[in-house]
Amino acid sequence: MSNKNSSNAIIFENILFGFGEQIILNDVSFSVKPGETIVLMGGSGTGKSTTLKLVLGLLKPESGHLFVDGENITDFTESKMMAVRKKIGMIFQEGALFDSLNVFENVGFRLFEQGASENDVEHIVRQMLKFVNLEDAIYKMPSELSGGMRRRVGIARALVGKPKIILYDEPTAGLDPPTARTIIELAMKLRDLEGVSSIFVTHRIQDAQQLASEYVTIDEKGEIVVRKDEKAASSRTKFIMLKQGKVIFSGSGRELWESPDPYIKNFLL
Ligand SMILES: Nc1ncnc2c1ncn2[C@@H]1O[C@H](COP(=O)(O)OP(=O)(O)O)[C@@H](O)[C@H]1O
Ligand SMILES: [Mg+2]
Repeated sequence: MSNKNSSNAIIFENILFGFGEQIILNDVSFSVKPGETIVLMGGSGTGKSTTLKLVLGLLKPESGHLFVDGENITDFTESKMMAVRKKIGMIFQEGALFDSLNVFENVGFRLFEQGASENDVEHIVRQMLKFVNLEDAIYKMPSELSGGMRRRVGIARALVGKPKIILYDEPTAGLDPPTARTIIELAMKLRDLEGVSSIFVTHRIQDAQQLASEYVTIDEKGEIVVRKDEKAASSRTKFIMLKQGKVIFSGSGRELWESPDPYIKNFLL
């Protein structure tokens, strides 16, 4: 058991979770390998956000075991969870920025909180903004940014502290397709260039297709480029679909699209 657990970023082992009488996750098992992105799909209310909250220890399972970065966090206290959460970056649908703080203060928030000097914070914030292609927006207020830019600031903020694990909760919801692409490209950069392990919750089939068929690499000129290659992409990307508390699908993108299951076929329309 211990070998398996220490070599995975996240493991759900027979997790049962409910709100009162309502069972949300019913004997759910899956794992996220290091460097792998698990695309978690399912209708609204099927427990996708709940799954992420369990990883963060914000909710506790009723039974089963939950491992994060080799540690059995199932019964971790709040203070032990604080250390675990430092390894996890969380990216929300709306970016969740503080409206009264500028981009610099938003991205550097945790560092300021920890008492880092203005110079150190600026150095790190600029690095993170460069990663999301938003260096020029450093002194802007959230209200001056487009929806896509706000999400990218949210991503930059989640990257402070260099998390090994990133959890995405519908980061492309409500964005137009080209803007959504830029968000997925960032997720691919983190997957392919940084080796981050992720659970990526999404509703959008286009997100799933892109994550299953494209990857990011550095070309001969040293530039970051997006390439189409299903094999390369799928070696690092797996799909899971939830329905009524159960994992009804787990496999590659191709297996997902070729699934004969009528529910899945309908979902992918
Ligand atoms: N704090 C809560 N108390 C009671 N029920 C909740 C709570 N949070 C979510 N739920 C219910 O749990 C189910 C799963 O929610 P959620 O994980 O947010 O779904 P998803 O993210 O897949 O849309 C939904 O039916 C939702 O109404
Ligand atoms: Mg949700």
